[in-house]
Amino acid sequence: MKKLLISFALLNLLAYAASAGETSSSGNISFDQLLSHITSAPAETAPMPEPAAEKAAFAAATEGRYWITVKAADSHARTRLLEAGFDIVEINKDSVSGIAGPELLAALSSKSFMVLSRVPLAVRAKDFPAADAAYHNFKETVDLLKQMAAANPDIASLFSIGKTTEGRDIWCLRINSSAKGEAASAKPGALYIGNHHAREHLSNEVPLLFAAWLFDHKNDADIKKYINTLDIYIIPMLNADGAEYDIKTGSYQYYRKNMSLNADKSRGVDLNRNYDSWFCEAGASTYPGADTYCGPKAFSEPESQAVKKFIEARKNLKTHISYHSYASEILYPWGGSDADVPNEKDKQVFIKVGDEMGKLTGYLSHKSSEMYVATGDSCDWAYASGGIFAFTFELEGRSFYPGAAILSSAVAKNIKAAVYLLSVTDNPYKVLP
Ligand code: ARG
Ligand code: ZN
Repeated sequence: MKKLLISFALLNLLAYAASAGETSSSGNISFDQLLSHITSAPAETAPMPEPAAEKAAFAAATEGRYWITVKAADSHARTRLLEAGFDIVEINKDSVSGIAGPELLAALSSKSFMVLSRVPLAVRAKDFPAADAAYHNFKETVDLLKQMAAANPDIASLFSIGKTTEGRDIWCLRINSSAKGEAASAKPGALYIGNHHAREHLSNEVPLLFAAWLFDHKNDADIKKYINTLDIYIIPMLNADGAEYDIKTGSYQYYRKNMSLNADKSRGVDLNRNYDSWFCEAGASTYPGADTYCGPKAFSEPESQAVKKFIEARKNLKTHISYHSYASEILYPWGGSDADVPNEKDKQVFIKVGDEMGKLTGYLSHKSSEMYVATGDSCDWAYASGGIFAFTFELEGRSFYPGAAILSSAVAKNIKAAVYLLSVTDNPYKVLP
C-alpha cells in the first residue's frame, strides 16, 4: 500500500517536473528532491510484521540452502567453481561466497573444493528487510516508464523489444528528439540494460531512475545536447519473470536465472551465460539446475534473443552498460577469455572510459576476466558482434537486498557515470590522446 502511495507521489512529481521544465529551470523539481522523496518515505513507516504464511513460504524456498564460503585463491579457481554450477556472489582474498543447496554441496565435495563455512540461508535472511517499498516491481516499473514517456512526448517513446519466457513485455524507453519507437536513427546510440539477473533488483532501479533524472534535467545544456544528438535506449528490467518470481511471496527467494522450464524440469537459464561468445566454455555449467547454467544453446532464451535482435538491428549503437549487483566494480571485455581485446585502440578506450566511470562511482574498473573467466557474457557478445563499448557494472551493496537506504547514493553516483558514457557516445575514440 505504501508502495502505491510512493509511486503516485513520484509520478506526480515527475509530471510536474516535466511541465515546469518546459518553461523555467527555476521551477524544476530537482532529481535530488525526487529521489529523497522516494527513499525517505519507507523510513517513516514502522516495519511491517511478517505474516506467518510469508515466513513459511520463505522457509520453504530457502530450506536446505546455505550461504557458503569456499576456498578459491585466484580467478582460475573461481572459474572452476562457476563451472561446477556455483554462482560466485562475493570475492575475498583466498575464498569466495555464495548460495548452495544440497546438490551443489555434493558436487563441490566430490570435486574436492574446500567449503570453509556454511550458514543456513534462512538465518542469514533474518537480517534483511521484509519489504523494500521504494524498489519497483514489474508493474510499477512499467507504469513509471509509461508515465515518463507520456509526459515527454517530444523526446521519449516506449516499445517492447520482445516477450519474456512467461510472456511479459520487455520494455524499452527511447530518448531521441527526432526518431520515435522502432524507427531507425543515424545518431550514435547508447544502451542501458538492467536486471539480467532476477535478484539484482538495484540493477533495475539504476537505469529506471537514470531515465527519470534525464527527463528532469532535459533542459540543462549538456543533457539537451545529448538528447538532441544521440539515440538513447533504456531497458531497465530484462528478466521481468525472474524479478517477479524473486519477490512474489513477499520474501526474497535469492533467485538468479530466468524462468525457462528446462528439459530435466528444473527452472531457469543464466541469461549472462546464454550469449554467443565462447558459448558454454569456461565459467558456465551444462547442468540445468545450476545457477550458472548456460542453456541448451546460445540464445536459446527469449530474453537474450530479444537483446540480440535489438542490437543487431541498430548498427548506430556505440556504448552500453549492463547493470548487475553487487561488487562495486566496472568490467570490460573480455570476460570469457584471459586475453585482452585484440584491438589496441579499443582496449585503451575501455581502460580510459572505465577509469573515468570508476572515478565517478568509486568502483574499481578492470578487465572482466580478472574477476573470473565466464563465457556467454552479454557485453563480450555486444563488443564482438557490434563493436560496442560495453561495460558490465557490478553495483554496490553488501547483499542482493541492500535495502532502500542505499538507493539515493547508488543512483546518484551511477547517474554521473551513465551521463559520462553519453558524453563519449558520439565518438568513444575521442578519449584517446
Ligand atoms: N557477475 C556477473 C555474472 O556472473 C558478471 C560477470 C562479468 N563477466 C565475466 N565474464 N567475468 O554474470
Ligand atoms: Zn548479475
